Amino acid sequence: MTAPLKNIDPVIVDVALGERAYQIVIGRGVLASLGARVAALRPGARAAIVTDEYVATHWLRKAEASLLDAGIATSRIIVDEGEISKSYEGLEYVCEELITAKIERSDLVIALGGGVVGDLAGFAAAVLRRGVDFVQVPTSLLAQVDSSVGGKTGINSPQGKNLVGAFHQPLLVVADTAVLDTLSQRQFRAGYAEVVKYGVLGDEAFLAWLEASHADIFAGGAAREHAIATSCRAKAAIVMRDERENGERALLNLGHTFGHALEAATGFSDRLYHGEGVAIGMVLAAEFSAELGMIAEADAARVRRHLAAAGLPTRLQDIAGFSQEKIGADAMMGLMAQDKKVKRGRLTFILLKAVGQAVMVSDVEPSLVREFLARKLAPTR
Ligand SMILES: NC(=O)c1ccc[n+]([C@@H]2O[C@H](COP(=O)([O-])OP(=O)(O)OC[C@H]3O[C@@H](n4cnc5c(N)ncnc54)[C@H](O)[C@@H]3O)[C@@H](O)[C@H]2O)c1
Ligand SMILES: [Zn+2]
Repeated sequence: MTAPLKNIDPVIVDVALGERAYQIVIGRGVLASLGARVAALRPGARAAIVTDEYVATHWLRKAEASLLDAGIATSRIIVDEGEISKSYEGLEYVCEELITAKIERSDLVIALGGGVVGDLAGFAAAVLRRGVDFVQVPTSLLAQVDSSVGGKTGINSPQGKNLVGAFHQPLLVVADTAVLDTLSQRQFRAGYAEVVKYGVLGDEAFLAWLEASHADIFAGGAAREHAIATSCRAKAAIVMRDERENGERALLNLGHTFGHALEAATGFSDRLYHGEGVAIGMVLAAEFSAELGMIAEADAARVRRHLAAAGLPTRLQDIAGFSQEKIGADAMMGLMAQDKKVKRGRLTFILLKAVGQAVMVSDVEPSLVREFLARKLAPTR
């Protein structure tokens, strides 16, 4: 029998953004402290909790109880699960419900959920009454290590993902690592790809630690807290230097140009979760870097080996049904050109100079990318 996991002291990561500075509180059981933390920051404020139907069944009552204990009046707004809620309709629904709940400038929006709820509720908070404060309570691993940190909020347009949005930093992030226990293994694994990303793009020692510790991170003990805190610190450090993505913040898109094209090619469906696309995209970025002579083949193999060891897909052929669809290199190039990371028609890639050192390479010769993809897309014998 294994010992039950104990609550340990939370880890606090400071995001120093001047008057928009905030703290990320990470730890097992910290959801119980949400009310006290919110009351300390905004005494007398009321709060509307935005969540989705799945997260609501597991964690809404606990969040409400914590807020009520601290004397904070709450209302709840529950949206459908899934990317579909990050839409104009979803935004209208949340804004109208917030107005009905009489959330005013001095009140708060609390996003309780994964990246979908965080992006949607954060954007609603950014535009409601020209901006009300919001608190992130991320409940998926992806949201805890990535989407809840950095202040990007928004919805999708029928023409593309995340095309309508705003920068709106949260007032506080409360990441309870125990809430991840109700997340599906596949969702957890997809979020783990973003954790690996921080190692591959900027911290070789962290990657080495992940290679040794990933089983413990999945099991949920202190290693999980450390992995999440290290990821948040890595993202916060980059965001502090480049809040609005004029430069360095783009490094966080490692694996995403290829990954987004794959998500688009599979119709943004359950066939490929975002993190799974990032895993394959990261391997492609590493292999392409090796082809350009920027890193050794063995370095690219190392990245692939760890993602595969964690159970993530690493090759185009790992996507169910992908080979039969005969998606060609030209179609992939077209999808990559639509990615919003494209600047004035030129493909910018995040590539590797070393494992643990990503660089932005603009003006990549399109024919090289095309040939590389054509080889990757060729049926394996
Ligand atoms: N703002 C940013 O900087 C940023 C960064 C990365 C991704 N994103 C966005 O994040 C979104 C993806 O986030 P996601 O992967 O968290 O998706 P998600 O919010 O859809 O959550 C994934 C699934 O897990 C469920 N879930 C979440 N927490 C749970 C829990 N504790 N227990 C049980 N089920 C739970 C959700 O209901 C959903 O079905 C995308 O829309 C993406 O564009 C934003
Ligand atoms: Zn991502």
